[in-house]
Amino acid sequence: MRILIHEDYERLSKWVAYYIAGQINKANPTPAKPYVLGLPTGSSPIGTYKELVKLNREGKVSFKNVITFNMDEYVGLPENHPESYHYFMWHNLFSHIDIPKENVNILDGNADDLEKECYEYEEKIKKIGGIDLFLGGIGPDGHIAFNEPGSSLSSKTRIKTLTYDTILANSRFFDNDVNKVPKTALTVGVATVMDSKQVLVIINGYKKARALQKVVEEGVNHMWTVSMLQLHEHGIICCDGEATMEMKVGTVKYFKDIEHLALSKLPELQ
Ligand code: GLP
Repeated sequence: MRILIHEDYERLSKWVAYYIAGQINKANPTPAKPYVLGLPTGSSPIGTYKELVKLNREGKVSFKNVITFNMDEYVGLPENHPESYHYFMWHNLFSHIDIPKENVNILDGNADDLEKECYEYEEKIKKIGGIDLFLGGIGPDGHIAFNEPGSSLSSKTRIKTLTYDTILANSRFFDNDVNKVPKTALTVGVATVMDSKQVLVIINGYKKARALQKVVEEGVNHMWTVSMLQLHEHGIICCDGEATMEMKVGTVKYFKDIEHLALSKLPELQ
């Protein structure tokens, strides 16, 4: 697992956007062989999405042959609700780039049959040949997508009940009222993410420091579902200095040292 400790959130966001754009360009996707991207919501990827929009506008990357699968969606929130993940994705990314609407996949939290919706999502990913790169963020309790502590590390797309911690953390988007936060969500599983060819997780800010420490310095554990990344062949964590606050000084020094070159420049776009 690579741990890249960036100077600050701005630099992290730019680095991640360049990395994603570079991977898309290198794959040289076509309609017959599209590049498949897994995407998260939340505040962590916002800077990356801004940079990707910029790169797209400058003609440095195109999403015409990119297919996306989002990680999760609340159950029962209308798609046009400002806090739905549908709204978030169109508002922060899809409306500003050249991706065809039919290439976007987001779980439907209002489907009549939610289990069928999850099953078909998983099948669609399989049929397309899997996900090339899954971008992720984490909750303060180390959950990836909505795979709350204790989730099976072999889980696939399914319905999940949100923990009180997550409801509380996400209430900041619902007028700080926990009662307004949906209590269930549809989410890809830990295994859905881990089956991707590459997984890149953004971990920034002091609130994520404990989770980052667990993931980097401790073992794989279902109570910190993102720790499964340790077993991935191509797992990358991009974090900022604030998120490293709970790690040993030696660990931070170690990763800064071995990633010195990668951190000193932006990934190549071609
Ligand atoms: C929610 C989402 C996660 C996301 C997390 C953190 O729980 N389901 O996918 O990673 O929020 O959000 P933020 O980046 O705003 O801290």
